[in-house]
Amino acid sequence: MKLPWSCLVLTVGLWSGTRYPDIGPSSVWLTLVTAFTAAESLTNDTSPSDTFIYADKNFTFTITANANGDIWFSMAAPATYGWFAVGTGSRMAGSLMFVAYGDGTPTGMHWNCQSNTMLIHLPGVTLSPRLSNGHSEPTYSDKIKLSKANPPRGPINMYQDGMYYVSGSCRGCTHLAPNTLDLTSTAQPFIFALGEEGRYPATTSLDGPLRRHAYYGYFTMDMTKATDGGGDDPISLHNVNANAVLIGKSIVTDHDICDPGHAFVMVLAWLIIFPLGILSLRILKNVKLHMMFQTIGLILGIIGAATGFYLTTLYNRSKHFNSAHQIIGLLLVIALIGQWVGGFLHHRYYVRNQRPWMNGQPIKGHKLVLGPVVLVVGLVNAAIGFNFAVAHQWNYIYVPFAIVMIIASTAIIFVRDIIARRLAGRKQNPIIGPPQPMPFGGQPPPPAGPGGFYGRDPAPPSLAASTRSDIALDRLPSHDPPSYDAEPVKPRDMI
Ligand code: HEM
Ligand code: HEM
Repeated sequence: MKLPWSCLVLTVGLWSGTRYPDIGPSSVWLTLVTAFTAAESLTNDTSPSDTFIYADKNFTFTITANANGDIWFSMAAPATYGWFAVGTGSRMAGSLMFVAYGDGTPTGMHWNCQSNTMLIHLPGVTLSPRLSNGHSEPTYSDKIKLSKANPPRGPINMYQDGMYYVSGSCRGCTHLAPNTLDLTSTAQPFIFALGEEGRYPATTSLDGPLRRHAYYGYFTMDMTKATDGGGDDPISLHNVNANAVLIGKSIVTDHDICDPGHAFVMVLAWLIIFPLGILSLRILKNVKLHMMFQTIGLILGIIGAATGFYLTTLYNRSKHFNSAHQIIGLLLVIALIGQWVGGFLHHRYYVRNQRPWMNGQPIKGHKLVLGPVVLVVGLVNAAIGFNFAVAHQWNYIYVPFAIVMIIASTAIIFVRDIIARRLAGRKQNPIIGPPQPMPFGGQPPPPAGPGGFYGRDPAPPSLAASTRSDIALDRLPSHDPPSYDAEPVKPRDMI
């Protein structure tokens, strides 16, 4: 098969490939789309209708109905919002909702070299029928006979000029939910909402993951003015408010602190606090500072878990508690509590008895196994969390930070250990001559004679080849260890 170069250039050059609507299409693209969508009206658009416009947010909803309880509507909102929706009634609980969001098709054009034709990729919109139980994500229901409709005029179920346009028809729609649609009412209550910006379900799936709204509001419509005797009435979006009244002064801004709060405390704990705690022990050799940082981290972890449990109740994707993020998160928080208790018990035992608790096994696990595992898995879990929360774009910022943090901390510890080993090697070098007085007024360690180290039994042979961390905790002088808050007077001897 021979592909001409011009074909390749055209394909690459014209393909804009964006999933996200806030990146506008090219002018060539616009020209073509306009030509494509501005088709002349095929049916008349004179059915009785009501239109609600919330100009400040550029939200529009037009509805018409017939006496059989069938409805047709069109709605539009800026595509920067994660989703937009209208529901029946004056509150979420019991509402029948029509939710719209971008379907994730990339915008662009593509030259088909086989047929020598230009293919236009239309960024589409998904229209999802949902039922709501209250203050949580409404659930998709296949019992609602909602389908997309072709309005007589205007954009047909698509993105255009920074807006999403969608039209639907719902058969026998008036009594599908507790909040009914009364076609004889002159003040039928409705609610509407706009999803948070940057959280795009970007899917054709009808149960696409919604993130809590940024704004919600209430309006009423005079349904008697929008209902006729029968027949099919696909309706276009009208641009003048008609027979509709906003309830309240304005739309309500939803202040959701739990979601950003959960992400903030968890990322703060894992990206900043726990690494500082580790560095304060490995570099500064300051146990007290280590305990302080790890205690702050644990408190943040517990606050994060509490907000995580609340968020779990809000979303369909989380309410069964079966996602990797939630399960790993819960295990991490349990391990974190275990780490803290283990570290604390070891420390208390050590202060009282001058030797490690249970031969140093728990603290070995604390330092060498559970510590690094909790840190690294926690960092990975945050990235999984952003994906889970329909916010994968945050990973473009978070993941590089996490990688830099892991590399920088490992390098600092590694370099510090090399320097310490070199200094220790120099101290034992016979060329230097007889033992020198210790700097900072310290005493040189007594020779390990028959009485063993510092007057204690020699270390068992099993420890001869053990690591720096466990030897240090086993071969301890019999005098009191320095207090944890005392200023260091000399660097600790390296073993
Ligand atoms: C992920 C999806 C959603 C979640 C997690 C959610 C959650 C919530 C929460 C927690 C509140 C209480 C807010 C407060 O006390 O300030 C609320 C209120 C409200 N929501 Fe939603 N909501 C979602 C989707 C929707 C949709 C699709 C609509 C509109 C069709 C909507 C309309 C409203 C309205 C009008 C209120 C105030 C009236 C009421 O208390 O029911 N919500 N929502
Ligand atoms: C008890 C354990 C945990 C539970 C129950 C839990 C629950 C949740 C839930 C339900 C979400 C989704 C919120 C949404 O869809 O908008 C979420 C998001 C998230 N979680 Fe967790 N989580 C837990 C532990 C953790 C841990 C240990 C970390 C980090 C180390 C973490 C970091 C995150 C992040 C970064 C997000 C994204 C939040 C956003 O974008 O606003 N979570 N978590």
